[in-house]
Order: sequence, then C-alpha cells, then structure tokens
Amino acid sequence: MQNKINITFGTESLLRFSQELQARNYSSLFLLVDTHTQEFCLKSFLTQTGLHHIEVLVMAAGEEHKNLQTCESLWHQLSERGADRNSALINLGGGVVTDLGGFVACTFKRGIDFFNVPTTLLAMVDASVGGKTGIDLGPLKNQIGIIEEPKQVLIDSQWLSTLPQEELHSGFAEMLKHGLISDENYWNQLRALPQLDAATLSKFIEPSVTIKKEVVLEDPRERSLRKVLNFGHTLGHAIESYYLTHPQKKRLLHGEAIAIGMVMESFLGVKCCGFSKHHAEEIKETFARYYPYVEIDTQDQKEILELLRHDKKNKSGRINFVLLEAISKPKIDVEVPQELFAKAFEFYGS
Ligand SMILES: NC(=O)c1ccc[n+]([C@@H]2O[C@H](COP(=O)([O-])OP(=O)(O)OC[C@H]3O[C@@H](n4cnc5c(N)ncnc54)[C@H](O)[C@@H]3O)[C@@H](O)[C@H]2O)c1
Ligand SMILES: [Zn+2]
Repeated sequence: MQNKINITFGTESLLRFSQELQARNYSSLFLLVDTHTQEFCLKSFLTQTGLHHIEVLVMAAGEEHKNLQTCESLWHQLSERGADRNSALINLGGGVVTDLGGFVACTFKRGIDFFNVPTTLLAMVDASVGGKTGIDLGPLKNQIGIIEEPKQVLIDSQWLSTLPQEELHSGFAEMLKHGLISDENYWNQLRALPQLDAATLSKFIEPSVTIKKEVVLEDPRERSLRKVLNFGHTLGHAIESYYLTHPQKKRLLHGEAIAIGMVMESFLGVKCCGFSKHHAEEIKETFARYYPYVEIDTQDQKEILELLRHDKKNKSGRINFVLLEAISKPKIDVEVPQELFAKAFEFYGS
C-alpha cells in the first residue's frame, strides 16, 4: 500500500510544484494554513509557486485546535467552495496542519489527494513524513486518524527563518530520537552541536528524514519495526496531554514533552533491558541542556499515569514501551512493571 514515499528537498521543487500539479489535472486546488503560516509563509509560497488560483483555508494555530470541530468547519468550507473528488489539498504548516489537513483530505468525499509543505522543523523531520494523519480526541492525542501517504512532501528549510527558537528545539527532540533509535554516530554528532539555529539544523533534516523513511517503508502500518519511532512517546504523549488540558500549568510543546519521555524511558531501559546507566545519564544531561526542566509533582504524576492507560499503543490493557538495550538498539513491546514509573519520574527530577 505504501511502497512509495515521494519527498523532495529544497526550493527548486517548490518552483516546479505548479507544473507538477498541472500535470495531475486537478479540478480545483485548496491550501490549508494556520493563522501563523498565513502570516509568515503564505505570501511567499504563492509567489514562489505561482499558484494564484487556489482557495485558501485558514485554521486557528495550536494543538488545541487539532480536533473534530476544526475538521468539520474545513469539510463545510471545502464543500461550499466546490471541492469535488478530483480536488486536492496542500497543507502548508507545522505538524498540526499536516496531521489535521491530511485527515480532512483522506475523509472528504472518501479521500482526495493531499500534499505536505512542512514549515516547522518537527513537521519536516517527522510529522509530514510517513502517512500518519489524525486529530486528538478530547485530551487524548492522535486517537482518530488514517494512515495514508501524501502525494508529495516538499521540504524546504527556508520556512525555518521565522520559526520561534523553542519550536526549533521541539523539532530537534525528534532528531535526537532518530539518533537514539538507529544511529549512535548521528546521536553524538547532534548532541555536540554548539548551537541550534536554523542554518545548523537544516543540514540534518535530510539524514533524519532518511532514518524515518526507511523505518516507515519497512513497516508502514506499525505492526512491528515502526514502533521504534515511538521511543519517548508513550510517557511523552501522556505528559503532553496532561499539560495540554491544564492551561494553568506550563505549556509544553510536543518535542519538550517527548524529551521528558525519552529521559524517563531511558531509565526504564536500564531497569528492564540492560541499558547502560552511563548512557541514561548522558541522555538526561543532553536533554537538560536543550529543554527547560519541568516540575512534575505527585498529583501531576498520578494524572499522567491515568492518561497513559489510554495510549493507542496499549494492547489488552498492557502498557507497552519501546526501550533501549543500547544506543541505536531499541526493543519494542516491553511491558514495564507499574512500580517503576515513580522511579522514572524521580530519575527525571534528579
Ligand atoms: N504524523 C506524525 O507522524 C507525527 C509525528 C510527530 C508529531 N506529530 C504531530 O505534530 C504536531 C506538532 O507539530 P509542530 O511542532 O509542527 O506543531 P504546530 O503545527 O503547532 O507548529 C508549531 C507552531 O509554529 C507555528 N508555525 C508553523 N510554521 C511556522 C513558521 N514557518 N514560522 C513561524 N511560525 C510557524 C504554528 O502556527 C504553531 O504555532 C503534534 O500534533 C504531533 O502530534 C505527528
Ligand atoms: Zn513525536
């Protein structure tokens, strides 16, 4: 089903994009942006692609809008503005826009073509690649969705110039993950970077995409190998959900949440898979350099563990983790004794 992943890099493909779309002969074209990419990317995208006859759809920015209400509003707008089965949707934005836009496209009239033009580092190295589309269900992340490859992903680091620094850091967490699950040299190279600016990070987009793409091609439907990409995400998603639904607490970006998840899950690796304590400390130190420390008290922990029980990766009530046996040696489907969770929080806090 998913033997083809079409990803291009650089501005040239953007310049050629309208010709490629012409060849596909769509009846009409729609472009989804959020309020930030509308402000920072839309004009430049239209100028560079020359796509002037395109219907622009705008959604509110932010994870809290990655939900069914936003989809419903977009389905209505598509319908009212004459979209048919032969229309196509281009998603210009971060992971929220590519996840939600992909889902809207896959479900509208049982599926229209879509294209991803990721504008955050996180969407470039992760969200826009691999065909996972979807939305959140209440506080629970990505519960509703479809796996379907976009027709093309156009990655161009030019968009990073307006991205806030903490969003760059957020995407960087997924890149560190790519090193941890598959390439120790890459991990060491990334954690030695003196600074995280757009120019420096741009050089590592393609290697990270290659790691993700290879995993996805081997196991598109996440029967086994693809699960390795969830390293840090079992706890990370629960932490992300918790902070998302507690606006009075600190706001956590996806990468910031999975950074905590990776530190805690490294510790679980020590306890359950023989992962070296030294490497777990190295991982903790590395993440502490890039991500603000988050105070997680015992009440927070209790509620986070409650959310953990709803993770999609659970099977018959068992919470399964991807843990590390060594750097670049992940082990999937590891069941973790519940009494270790408190110790993992303690490790993160120590
Ligand atoms: N499908 C997948 O495989 C996959 C993988 C990882 C993450 N995700 C999902 O991706 C989402 C996180 O993605 P994200 O971090 O890109 O979030 P996001 O889409 O919310 O973007 C982060 C912020 O940056 C703004 N923004 C985007 N591009 C900009 C630009 N060029 N200049 C200035 N501001 C810009 C956005 O409006 C938003 O405020 C989560 O919902 C997560 O679940 C999906
Ligand atoms: Zn992620």
